[in-house]
Amino acid sequence: MTVPVIWNNVDLYFQNNLQQEDPVMKSVLKANEEAGLPAIDVSPNQGKMLYLLAKLKKANNILEIGTLGGYSSIWLARALPNDGQIMSLEYSEKHASVARQNIRNAGLKDKVTILVGPALETLPTIEEKGYHHFDFIFIDADKQNNANYVQWGLKLCKPGAVIIVDNVVRNGQVLKEDEHDPNIQGVRDCIELFSSEPRIDATAIQTVGSKGYDGFLLGIVE
Ligand code: SAH
Ligand code: DHB
Ligand code: MG
Repeated sequence: MTVPVIWNNVDLYFQNNLQQEDPVMKSVLKANEEAGLPAIDVSPNQGKMLYLLAKLKKANNILEIGTLGGYSSIWLARALPNDGQIMSLEYSEKHASVARQNIRNAGLKDKVTILVGPALETLPTIEEKGYHHFDFIFIDADKQNNANYVQWGLKLCKPGAVIIVDNVVRNGQVLKEDEHDPNIQGVRDCIELFSSEPRIDATAIQTVGSKGYDGFLLGIVE
């Protein structure tokens, strides 16, 4: 996707002014590229935003769906207190193994557990593994299952939990009601669920930047 130069430059301007040099994050992106992973991680400014939101929430138990190379997992793990934990669900064994190495290199291996498999198959197993009472949930996997993931999130979360869903604008394609692309339909189903679910108080924010024109859906569970 080509991104307008000004979006990139403003993103870089904020990153350079509001973040320290970050050799760990740089090496994660380099390792992902070397392993041939798609460059669809959140941007540095979005990662920092997730980190700040998790800190604001004082999150202890995070659920992430869609690990890729662990870039967003590492941002979120940095927001955790010493005894905090992230459970991150990933379909691809290859992505998970790159992520595990990145997480080890970042010194965060005691905070992050990655479970490999289709998330709809692993979600039913995590409570018995001791992972529940999530207070922060980041959904960023196959978009057609967004609504299913939110339903699981509602089952596994604590009152007051934050749910964030990535990629809810998709260059404006979210408006295409008749779109047959299951990814777009998945985003719309998720918005509809947020809209009809009285336990969720929500908004969505459009973003432009190095990752193009997209957005986050953000809700708090009653
Ligand atoms: N959150 C990551 C990016 C995730 S990209 C970051 O910002 O760094 C989306 C990931 O979801 C990919 O790694 C993909 O393999 C994974 N994924 C796709 N379908 C999935 C499924 N059914 N269950 C779990 N993970 C899935
Ligand atoms: C895609 C997926 C993402 O999670 C993202 O942030 C950007 C792009 C994709 O599948 O194209
Ligand atoms: Mg995403």
